[in-house]
Amino acid sequence: MNYINMGNIKTYIKGKNRLSGSVRISGAKNAALPELAAALLSNDEFEFSGVPRVEDIKVMFKALKNIGAEGEFNNNFINIKVPEIKSSLVPKDIVETSRASILILGPLLARSGYAKVSLPGGCSIGDRHINFHLEGLRKMGAEITEKNEHITAKTSAPLQGIAYRFPQKTVTGTENLLMAAVLAQGTTVLENCALEPEIGDLVDLLLKMGADIEGKNSDTLEITGRSTLKGTRHRVIPDRIEMGTYVIAGSFAGNEIVVENAVPGYIESLLDILEKVGVNLEVDNDRIKVSSNGNLHPIDIETSPFPGFPTDLQAQLTTLLTQAEGVSRVKENIFNNRFQHALELNKLGADIKIAGDTSIISGKTNLTGTDIIATDLRASAALVLGGLIAEGETIVANSYQLLRGYENMPQKLQELGAEVKLLGVKND
Ligand code: EPU
Repeated sequence: MNYINMGNIKTYIKGKNRLSGSVRISGAKNAALPELAAALLSNDEFEFSGVPRVEDIKVMFKALKNIGAEGEFNNNFINIKVPEIKSSLVPKDIVETSRASILILGPLLARSGYAKVSLPGGCSIGDRHINFHLEGLRKMGAEITEKNEHITAKTSAPLQGIAYRFPQKTVTGTENLLMAAVLAQGTTVLENCALEPEIGDLVDLLLKMGADIEGKNSDTLEITGRSTLKGTRHRVIPDRIEMGTYVIAGSFAGNEIVVENAVPGYIESLLDILEKVGVNLEVDNDRIKVSSNGNLHPIDIETSPFPGFPTDLQAQLTTLLTQAEGVSRVKENIFNNRFQHALELNKLGADIKIAGDTSIISGKTNLTGTDIIATDLRASAALVLGGLIAEGETIVANSYQLLRGYENMPQKLQELGAEVKLLGVKND
């Protein structure tokens, strides 16, 4: 796919079609991102399968190529090998659309003793601090400076194992220190680690590479550093946020869809909420059948780290709650500015008020299509869901956001019966 101009990408939706049929979940963007960065930890070859073809992954692959990676991204496969570090720089022009570049810092520093990573701008979902990543790496012996959106880290000696307790759970922080520790000298004990399944998948990859890690899927990881690690093959786990987004899509009145390649255990918190809201769910090993008669109840919920309800599904669930009869409250505990979808949903006719860290959604409201703007990746999915249930035509501007993290969403929705297309792209 070619983008004529990133800023001009829009999603066109003609609402009110009933969704039915099945949809297959792609590999997890937020697992593939650290796993590609982990290829820096070895000079051998890696073969990744199940890699979602989304823009954030393309950006990561390009940044790694700039460092010296060789390889191809074909369909959902990436072959990658970093025989030598040609540049320890992750420049701003490559990574300006994704803050996942921070994931390069730990492994590149561990491999080469030097890394200069650009972390462009503030993020539209609120403050995204990285102080714990830097504190941990400093304890391991790195000298780190932050200047003009660049972080420079260097060490003259190999990184040293440390004991570190994260003051707050952080997903990429856990991943970054884990990737640094597998090549450090001695043993590292990381406490209060995040528990998201993407971290377990990264641990699986690192174990296949020959790393010594105890405590997979627990909040304490004990890592004994190795001097070298080897390449391997790895299949990326399914994307739980994409899974949750389609389960929510199936929860609107009259819809009946089957979500395939699902891992219900990854989204138990969402499934519990939907059951209370009145959605019909049939959960199998790797598929979830979801349907709804539209008789939805309001609910009060809050986001929290895994296994709690994920912030990355907060916006999409909010769209559903506009269709519940009564007042729902959604408290956002992870990011401090993640309600920008609310204003846009209100343009469609929703009644959402923001009070500090909580959105108050009064339903049920009939939505009507209009022009709205996607402010971030997950907001864009929430707005597309809004367009699907709105009367008439909705245009979601800034839909590059959607392409950052959802593989083929317009096509997948079309296959379920929706009338959705991307504007501003041409197929090659
Ligand atoms: N935090 C700090 N200091 C740190 C690190 C985090 O104060 O050093 C704070 C953050 O400011 C935030 C909270 O801790 O308030 C949690 O942030 P976390 O570090 O866990 O977020 P992240 O690692 O930057 C990942 C995902 C996000 C997802 C969050 C929360 C990736 C590449 N990104 O971000 O995914 O929202 O975890 O689950 O894994 C998305 O895919 O749309 C997305 C934004």
